Amino acid sequence: MATTKRKMKFTLLLLLCLANAATIPTFDLQDIIDQDSISSYVTDGQITSKVLATLISISTSNSTKCQKCKDRLVLGQSLALVRPDLVPGIWTQWCNSTNVSTPATCQQTYGRNTVKNSGTGTNFVNMLTVMDPQSLDGDYYCHYKESSACPLPDTPEVDISYMWPQKPAKAYIPPESSNSTFNVLHISDIHVEMDYTIGSEANCSTSMCCTPHSKNAKSLPNGYNFTKGLSDQQILSLNFYNSSYIDGQFKLGKDQGLNSSVWEPAYGYGFYECDSPEILINSSLDSIVKYQRQNNITFDFAIFTGDLVDHDEIQYVGYNMTVESEEVVFNNMKSKLQNIPVYSVLGNHDTFPYGELAQEKYGFSNMFDWNAELMAEMWADFEWLDWNEAQYAKYHYSGFSVTTKRGLKIVSLNSNCWYVKNNYAYGNMTQDPDSFGQFEFLVNELVEAEENDQRVWIISHIPMSADILPISAKLFASIIERFSPYTIAALFNGHTHRDEFELLYSTNGTDSSLKTGETLVNNVWITRAVTPWVENNPGWRYYEVDSKTFSIMNSFNYYTKLNETFYNNGDEPVWNFEYSARDAYNIDWPKTNPLNASYWQLVAESMKNDKQSLQNYENHAKRFSPYTDDCVTTDNCDWDWCYVTSFTVDQLANCYAAEKVTPPSS
Ligand SMILES: *[C@@H]1O[C@H](CO)[C@@H](O)[C@H](O)[C@H]1NC(C)=O
Ligand SMILES: *[C@@H]1O[C@H](CO)[C@@H](O)[C@H](O)[C@H]1NC(C)=O
Ligand SMILES: *[C@@H]1O[C@H](CO)[C@@H](O)[C@H](O)[C@H]1NC(C)=O
Ligand SMILES: *[C@@H]1O[C@H](CO)[C@@H](O)[C@H](O)[C@H]1NC(C)=O
Ligand SMILES: *[C@@H]1O[C@H](CO)[C@@H](O)[C@H](O)[C@H]1NC(C)=O
Ligand SMILES: *[C@@H]1O[C@H](CO)[C@@H](O)[C@H](O)[C@H]1NC(C)=O
Ligand SMILES: *[C@@H]1O[C@H](CO)[C@@H](O)[C@H](O)[C@H]1NC(C)=O
Ligand SMILES: *[C@@H]1O[C@H](CO)[C@@H](O)[C@H](O)[C@H]1NC(C)=O
Ligand SMILES: *[C@@H]1O[C@H](CO)[C@@H](O)[C@H](O)[C@H]1NC(C)=O
Ligand SMILES: *[C@@H]1O[C@H](CO)[C@@H](O)[C@H](O)[C@H]1NC(C)=O
Ligand SMILES: *[C@@H]1O[C@H](CO)[C@@H](O)[C@H](O)[C@H]1NC(C)=O
Ligand SMILES: *[C@@H]1O[C@H](CO)[C@@H](O)[C@H](O)[C@H]1NC(C)=O
Repeated sequence: MATTKRKMKFTLLLLLCLANAATIPTFDLQDIIDQDSISSYVTDGQITSKVLATLISISTSNSTKCQKCKDRLVLGQSLALVRPDLVPGIWTQWCNSTNVSTPATCQQTYGRNTVKNSGTGTNFVNMLTVMDPQSLDGDYYCHYKESSACPLPDTPEVDISYMWPQKPAKAYIPPESSNSTFNVLHISDIHVEMDYTIGSEANCSTSMCCTPHSKNAKSLPNGYNFTKGLSDQQILSLNFYNSSYIDGQFKLGKDQGLNSSVWEPAYGYGFYECDSPEILINSSLDSIVKYQRQNNITFDFAIFTGDLVDHDEIQYVGYNMTVESEEVVFNNMKSKLQNIPVYSVLGNHDTFPYGELAQEKYGFSNMFDWNAELMAEMWADFEWLDWNEAQYAKYHYSGFSVTTKRGLKIVSLNSNCWYVKNNYAYGNMTQDPDSFGQFEFLVNELVEAEENDQRVWIISHIPMSADILPISAKLFASIIERFSPYTIAALFNGHTHRDEFELLYSTNGTDSSLKTGETLVNNVWITRAVTPWVENNPGWRYYEVDSKTFSIMNSFNYYTKLNETFYNNGDEPVWNFEYSARDAYNIDWPKTNPLNASYWQLVAESMKNDKQSLQNYENHAKRFSPYTDDCVTTDNCDWDWCYVTSFTVDQLANCYAAEKVTPPSS
């Protein structure tokens, strides 16, 4: 009870403050909350109808969309501080009754969390108790979580340079290459589809196909049959799976047992509109093992930049499915890659509910402990981390720092801390921009490394240019700038499913539109995905790494043409070499120089000046999938140059505006 009293005082204070604010909310909660004890003589039903009525009056008021959104947050916060249990139900009812979303979406956004699906109502309430709706927290929330109800604010100046000592003179010069190298594997975005069903609809109207619940909204034309136009051999071929004939795998009519009620069938090894069937994941891991054997090389270790779980609509991705997907994929990695340690990060799909992750310090992180514990235990069990590193991961969102046998430090971060879809990311974001403590962790690791002349790789899932809160992206860039080029040898991301790179130009007092060599800071390696979603060929890559500096000397990229597996008697996909980063763009570059930011800047320039070079880049981005854009005779790829020369959300948006280009909508 004592806490309730304290919280109530806080609420009252908050309301008093609001009375003085420039924009006064259009509602009055006093008659609900100025009671000494709500529970004794105000029933839940009375509170509910009062708050609901207030919510509806906010909706019908004539204030701006932005103000309405913030008013709801203020109201929600007042209630969340005294009766958090009532918020999900009331907000779902309001959402249902005002038709702001479909009932299913209302349920997912505001409904109480359950193990069955990713309802985020509980996370919404938790966030409300720590955010300041009247500050930029509210603007950002209303921009990103409520369909741009508020305009995106200008990113405020936030400085975390108190976290580090002044940059020493040596820190401006990268160490020199040693002429000896070793190899490191990089895999990402596996996205296992646990519901993958051969022969189900692969041409569906929702985002994710190839499951029993995938449907095409348009019914099949009379007499339509996807086998029309296929040869007998091709039809027969559909009944093979991993080279074995499976009788009736495809159900064709009554006699032939082939299911012709789909526009296009989900094939054995996957399809471009679907996430990975497990057999595709194993085939990709097998191809890596085979590659090592045939070429007599061993990967020292692997990095995995996140996303194990599928993209299915969230009502099909429960807690169990999330856990199961994480276990299945990591177990497969361990059993195929054997003694190669895999240093991993979790992606936005690798949590439950989708995208959510709470700060340790605000009291809600226990809702997510199961995940960090599962990772810590699995990674220690597989001997990918030692006990101490695993303990750190257990209590820090599964992030960790590890030093490899050769002396490279790898820092793993969980980018959900800064993810725009994570409710908690808005909790006190402006007053406490490092509320998750991950920037402090990263800086401490970098300061220590700088002192010890040790080099560092940073791995995380989401690139800082998209889907990340602009303040976080800017702070991250300032850290990278402080510790480049001496300490930070390389940065790695996944998430986009495209094979990409990005350059970081100085943000420190320099005109960020001035893209010259002098202001170059570092570059990011964003790797290809194993999942074919959306419309890419599956792939993986490895790096040739300098043994002393840990700079990247080259990357070698592999892929499989998924469409060649459709009518191929179920034979294993064939994995082929696609390109090496050093040879792909005809850049004259000294053999002993790493492929650093200066190298990639030359690639960026050639993309801007030469359409064929731009086409090369786009072919690699999508691994020559049948859906690759034509960059030569159309301007469809012109956004790529902005993309590769931007590092933060703001830099990318500014470049798109300056160049008048638009990326394809996702
Ligand atoms: C809302 O509408 C009323 C009546 O039309 C008007 O008097 C009032 O000024 C409006 N308020 C705002 C904030 O526009
Ligand atoms: C909102 O609508 C959904 C779907 O009709 C329903 O299941 C749910 O109970 C409703 N929730 C509330 C609080 O009215
Ligand atoms: C919401 O939609 C339902 C069904 O389409 C309709 O009956 C109802 O009037 C709508 N409510 C509002 C507030 O628009
Ligand atoms: C928000 O962060 C500030 C600065 O760290 C802190 O003083 C304040 O207590 C935090 N707010 C809440 C609600 O925890
Ligand atoms: C690396 O090789 C180049 C050319 O073969 C040579 O000039 C350079 O001194 C070598 N560097 C080291 C550290 O051995
Ligand atoms: C579908 O087409 C194939 C030939 O391509 C034919 O053998 C089969 O009978 C057709 N099935 C149906 C249900 O129309
Ligand atoms: C996919 O479905 C649409 C109807 O929704 C249809 O127009 C199109 O031809 C189909 N494509 C294939 C390859 O089946
Ligand atoms: C295909 O089958 C063979 C033999 O049964 C097996 O060794 C292989 O692992 C299977 N491939 C995949 C990708 O499951
Ligand atoms: C494979 O590589 C190792 C070490 O790099 C070397 O000792 C061995 O001779 C090589 N074997 C073959 C068959 O090339
Ligand atoms: C989740 O899995 C556990 C253990 O396998 C099982 O007991 C439970 O019923 C499952 N829950 C759901 C919602 O599927
Ligand atoms: C930016 O420049 C100022 C002044 O030169 C320096 O004190 C500060 O440490 C720099 N910040 C970064 C991130 O390099
Ligand atoms: C697969 O797609 C590629 C790229 O569009 C195309 O060149 C190739 O012919 C296709 N292969 C088959 C078997 O359809």
